Amino acid sequence: MNFKGGSGKTTTSAHLAQYLALHGYRVLAIDLDPQASLSALFGHQPELDVGPNETLYGAIRYDDKRRPIAEVVRATYIPDLHIVPGNLELMEFEHDTPRALLRKAPGDTLFFARVGQAIAQAQNLYDVVVIDCPPQLGYLTLSALTAATSVLVTIHPQMLDVMSMSQFLMMTGDLLDEVAKAGASTTYDFMKYVITRFEPSDGPQNQMVAFLRSIFAEHVLIHPMLKSTAISDAGITNQTLFEVDRHQFTRATYDRALESMNNVNAEIEGFIRKAWGRAE
Ligand SMILES: Nc1ncnc2c1ncn2[C@@H]1O[C@H](COP(=O)(O)OP(=O)(O)OP(=O)(O)O)[C@@H](O)[C@H]1O
Ligand SMILES: [Mg+2]
Repeated sequence: MNFKGGSGKTTTSAHLAQYLALHGYRVLAIDLDPQASLSALFGHQPELDVGPNETLYGAIRYDDKRRPIAEVVRATYIPDLHIVPGNLELMEFEHDTPRALLRKAPGDTLFFARVGQAIAQAQNLYDVVVIDCPPQLGYLTLSALTAATSVLVTIHPQMLDVMSMSQFLMMTGDLLDEVAKAGASTTYDFMKYVITRFEPSDGPQNQMVAFLRSIFAEHVLIHPMLKSTAISDAGITNQTLFEVDRHQFTRATYDRALESMNNVNAEIEGFIRKAWGRAE
């Protein structure tokens, strides 16, 4: 997550989910963004392939059309990687929640517990759930933050992005304090910053990364995600680096991107295993 648009949330989520599935984990990816770029990347076009009540909204809505999460889970091209697709319908949750808060029907699950409650129905089927959040700090994002056991914050190391990120962190902190007062769990196994679209030859970016490391220390992943045309070009045809034909690029371009991608994901996998008490 990060409310900065274009910081690499979807790219990071997609590759992490595929990486883990390719390494033997059973993975559920959840597209919580009404723009639904993760769904498109995984072969489900939000406006064509995803009908009413077929997003996570179907499993977290307040009315009697709510359905089990199993009914909105779909396959992807990768075995062991399933997705709950998104589309514009997810916006309804932002509109419904204020009304539900006013109504406060007895027995109603409060908004921040709804995503976690839906995921809990499927928790025996998956090892890891990866949630791609929308670029805003709404009820969906807060509910995802409450459901999450760990958080990745993507940062493109440019001054303006970092300014908006610190604003984001302060707002998130305040909001999480509020939901914690209402009984939500807001502790995490790990919270890490992922440097995205990093250009090693760019002086100001290097300074910014050094600055972030000096502030956040070990909370910044050691490996940055390099900026690469192999990743952006693959995205144009709704493919990830793991799917795109390597021959479309010079060998060095593709291999450098893949190495960086694998390093980032291996590092995250390490944190997951450590949280499970299965380090090494
Ligand atoms: N490492 C990278 N190298 C090159 N291009 C990248 C890289 N990571 C992301 N991009 C490109 O940057 C753009 C934004 O990335 P992405 O969609 O992952 O960001 P986002 O944070 O999910 O955006 P939004 O806030 O709109 O959801 C995309 O076109 C993507 O292909
Ligand atoms: Mg996105």
